Amino acid sequence: MRIELPKETERLGAVLIHGIQKVFELESGLETDLERPGNGLMIQRMPYEAENEIEKRMAIVIPMRNERIKLVEGVLTGIPNQCLTFIVSNSSRSPVDRFAIEKDAFERFARFTSKQIVLVHQKDPCLAEACRAAGYTAILDEKDGLIKSGKAEGMILAKLLVSLSGCRYIGFIDADNYFPGSVLEYVREYAAGFFIGKSNYIMVRISWHSKPKIIDDGLFFAKWGRTSRQTNHFLNMFIAAYTGFETDIIKTGNAGEHAMTMDLALTLDYSSGYSIEPNHFINIFERFGGLGGKSLSEEIIEKHVQIFQIESRNPHLHNVGKGEGHVEEMTCGAFQVISQSPLCPENIKKKLQQEIAVMQQEFPNSVKPVDYYPSLSGINETAFMEAIREQPYADVIQKCYKRKI
Ligand code: GDP
Ligand code: CO
Repeated sequence: MRIELPKETERLGAVLIHGIQKVFELESGLETDLERPGNGLMIQRMPYEAENEIEKRMAIVIPMRNERIKLVEGVLTGIPNQCLTFIVSNSSRSPVDRFAIEKDAFERFARFTSKQIVLVHQKDPCLAEACRAAGYTAILDEKDGLIKSGKAEGMILAKLLVSLSGCRYIGFIDADNYFPGSVLEYVREYAAGFFIGKSNYIMVRISWHSKPKIIDDGLFFAKWGRTSRQTNHFLNMFIAAYTGFETDIIKTGNAGEHAMTMDLALTLDYSSGYSIEPNHFINIFERFGGLGGKSLSEEIIEKHVQIFQIESRNPHLHNVGKGEGHVEEMTCGAFQVISQSPLCPENIKKKLQQEIAVMQQEFPNSVKPVDYYPSLSGINETAFMEAIREQPYADVIQKCYKRKI
């Protein structure tokens, strides 16, 4: 891959937020290939070997709930074989056991491709028990004792499993993506961020080049949806309130497609549902921004947290028929986590609360309070591993876990 280096960077304490980077080539050859002179200083080449080395240490997580299997198979096709793949499904088990059908299809896919796929169901009682044994009960439902529904809760579970596998990096890819080529591109862009980054705490977020829509019988390549426009706007206002300079640096407030080093993944606190992605920014500001009189550890100041935002080249086409109130649920989740931060400036908080109140009236079923979950640092991994040892999905994890300890 050949990619532009960040042209601008905003700094907030130990957090470096890099501006959007364009991709110039999806594949730029091998390490030994000679470069012609004139390669600009602002463009970085990531040779294939370097990309491959990073991907061998990267787990890709697919959160899914009642998606069409054909779509998910397409997503699996786009994930390089060297990445360990985790699918966390929250699909319904009755009246039709959709998970059983998924299991059958993905196991077959894994056999055909020799791909290492770990498939789990979010409501597996054994996984809830393992969370309990590991001392991480925040994501469990008080009523039935199982892991709560929600994309964020599935992602947190995945982080736990990936941590056991000893992978250094974790990347997320939604299951409802129509283009396998764009999936491969996202993985390469994650690798490029880790390749360029100089810290143990790196996050890479994808900004879609375009989302094709059919308008008046023609294709229109839209760049921004309403939710991301608004989320980005308020996150930028948040930064500007502290730096004193207006900015438009954040372009990926809602990025479902994102990756991070496991060091960062295990440090962050999380929030529920679709608010998890915008909350990454807020939580990173809270913990590493040095704001509100909070002093930072020497280690963090020295190393920084680096956030890369990479603009993908493939159009992004996903399943858009997710029903009434879906957009509002996402927008509201973002507004809630921004406005509820103790660091949120008063004027921004007020504006957001007004917007939330309007959405609450219009879509009372979609707007729910956000739950907050503590970080995974300090969980008892040995107890978790012990609790899932007998499960079929533990096989791959266990092999990797042994390498880790
Ligand atoms: P959008 O793309 O942002 O509009 O959101 P989607 O509804 O497509 O959700 C993003 C991804 O999260 C998709 O792959 C969904 O199947 C998945 N997802 C949604 N809810 C859950 C859940 O409760 N658990 C898990 N594991 N995944 C979920
Ligand atoms: Co989607």
